[in-house]
Amino acid sequence: MTGRGSVMEIPVDELTEAQARAELARLAETIAHHDALYFSQDAPEISDADYDALRLRNAAIEAKFPGLVRPDSPSRRVGVKPVGAFGTVKHAVPMLSLSNAFSDEDVTDFVARVRRFLRLGEETSLDFTAEPKIDGLSISLRYEHGALVMAATRGDGYEGENVTANVRTIDDVPDRLRGAGVPEIFEVRGEIYMTHDDFQALNVAQEVAGAKIFANPRNAAAGSLRQLDSTITAARPLKFFAYAWGEVSKDGLPADTQWGVYEAFRKWGLPTNPLMKLCASVDEMIAVYHSIGEGRAGLGYDIDGVVYKVNDLALQERLGFVSRSPRWATAHKFPAQQAMTQLKDIEIQVGRTGALTPVAKLQPITVGGVVVANATLHNEDEIARKDIRIGDTVIVQRAGDVIPQIVSVVADKRPPEAVPYVFPEICPVCGSHAVREINPKTGRPDAARRCTGGLICPAQAIERLKHFVSRNAFDIEGLGDKQITAFYHDGLITRAPDIFTLAKRDARSLKKLKDREGWGATSAQKLFDAIDLRRRIALDRFIFALGIRHVGETTARVLARSYGSVEQFLAAMRALGADAAGEAFADLDAIEGIGPTVAQAIAEFFAEGHNWEVIDALLEELSVQPLERVAATSPVAGKTIVFTGGLERMSRDEAKAMAERLGAKSSGSVSAKTDLVVAGPGAGSKLKKAAELGIEVIDENAWFDLIGEK
Ligand code: IVH
Repeated sequence: MTGRGSVMEIPVDELTEAQARAELARLAETIAHHDALYFSQDAPEISDADYDALRLRNAAIEAKFPGLVRPDSPSRRVGVKPVGAFGTVKHAVPMLSLSNAFSDEDVTDFVARVRRFLRLGEETSLDFTAEPKIDGLSISLRYEHGALVMAATRGDGYEGENVTANVRTIDDVPDRLRGAGVPEIFEVRGEIYMTHDDFQALNVAQEVAGAKIFANPRNAAAGSLRQLDSTITAARPLKFFAYAWGEVSKDGLPADTQWGVYEAFRKWGLPTNPLMKLCASVDEMIAVYHSIGEGRAGLGYDIDGVVYKVNDLALQERLGFVSRSPRWATAHKFPAQQAMTQLKDIEIQVGRTGALTPVAKLQPITVGGVVVANATLHNEDEIARKDIRIGDTVIVQRAGDVIPQIVSVVADKRPPEAVPYVFPEICPVCGSHAVREINPKTGRPDAARRCTGGLICPAQAIERLKHFVSRNAFDIEGLGDKQITAFYHDGLITRAPDIFTLAKRDARSLKKLKDREGWGATSAQKLFDAIDLRRRIALDRFIFALGIRHVGETTARVLARSYGSVEQFLAAMRALGADAAGEAFADLDAIEGIGPTVAQAIAEFFAEGHNWEVIDALLEELSVQPLERVAATSPVAGKTIVFTGGLERMSRDEAKAMAERLGAKSSGSVSAKTDLVVAGPGAGSKLKKAAELGIEVIDENAWFDLIGEK
């Protein structure tokens, strides 16, 4: 993360309003980033527990400052927009998520909340179903007159992808619901998953075929379901459990309890989980949780908790929803899975920005059904803090989908010859010094030690190139990690512009690509075509591809939206280089969503002559498309607007989001570049500055008049 100050460590109760606002903005961005990794790319970076902690912090701050809830708040979303290749399907009933409980006490609180809401005294019985929370991906199956007509993924909860053809290949999903009492329309909801055995067999087959290895069964299931060719899905052993429903026609549900509907599911031929139980008390619920937890390792598929649901459907109806989850259900999460193994070695990987990342090479071990051979060690302080030594016996943890971590060392199993690990101060790839820069804000050394080799470090160059062609950057088909590494070592592609001159150089070369090992005339031509296809590129992708430190997809989009065209963006960046401490920097820093750390990193990037050489060479080859303005015709399109003072009809964040939707740029400070100031009561210095600069100032009502809303 970008680490904008230390607001993130302040307890929620101690946050000032300004800090809370900044923190909500950071959390919205961070959570959106992790959602995208998890849902669209099946490649999460943090543990479920860390992710839950982010969402909990967001919820706690929103509860304390309800006026600061952002339009793009994670509490208003359950996932990300679907990615595209399949048609989209609007869910008749949204597919929402579940609140979480992490302890027995949380479960007691949940039941007490339900009772309080319903005003049920202890003497009145209240049943709950308890069932495993399957770690797969949720699916909605629409049956009309008993026949499967549509299958859709969850997507962002409101719209998912149409994966009907692929779902039809899954044996567990019946084409027709059998038996009596099947309503005219019935949307069954449940989870698609893959067993551990099938997952391992699939990965072996993938490896033999030189195809993608999946990190875990959930990713394998997601990847299999998203195949454009359904014969591939058919060959993948996917399974299904039903546990909920969406739209149901007026002829009604088959029962008035959750349990009764599960019974109907089974009669209709839909598989339900055999561990489902009906509980009459909190104690029974917690007992089911512990018993399912104990049997977890032997289940043969991943589960990550137990879901409790109020059994009576009339009570569910009364309880309704809060935010995006039902009040009548919660997920009691399991702690992460752990196992003991030996640390064989520590390998240092060098990333795109030169950061040296230690990776633990482990004696392979099965953790919760998945074989783990590598674990992240984060950085040298982490190794020192846990005193991790080569040869140690360690506890590894795999939480949900993420890269496994080392929790601790088993001290009494340490071999006598194990010595403290000395973190290299020399880049293992290029031999340059690796240093820990002092963070100017904190005065403390950065967590990461970085190689100072810059351009001469092959590891950094290769990682930069991999980033440049990656999925959210230039996304060049046929130019993946393997090809980039080989082309780099052969001197064919050493900098990004070389990609676009590859075909030209190949035509003149004696050693043609088609004659290289693993290539032929067709594959070479296909690659050249794929490269040509990306000569037109959207500005936000272009900025992201440059690989500026701290500039991820979201920030790249903010910059692209803010500057509009590559010409304007680069002009501003040139001004920045000429006067890094002056107005150009202040302008950049004032952009909503760009904090000082990011602005500093951008300034450093554009202060380097060699980065300009790469950009100039790229522009010779590319046509960078301006970002499509959402509403180019709106009266405020292209304008820079500052909102200040108290607003009555909307929150400040909503106002900014509205301006951005209308194609305007919203800024936090008034400068010569400001076109309009929208001021409410109590506006102070910004109003004064606007008057000095002769900038138009209007009030909130005039703003609504201007944009044509009452
Ligand atoms: S009930 C209104 N039951 O967990 C919510 N969900 O965080 C209805 N999940 O998206 C969901 N096993 O993908 C329910 N037995 C179960 C589940 C389950 C897994 C997933 C589901 C949902 C997510 C909610």
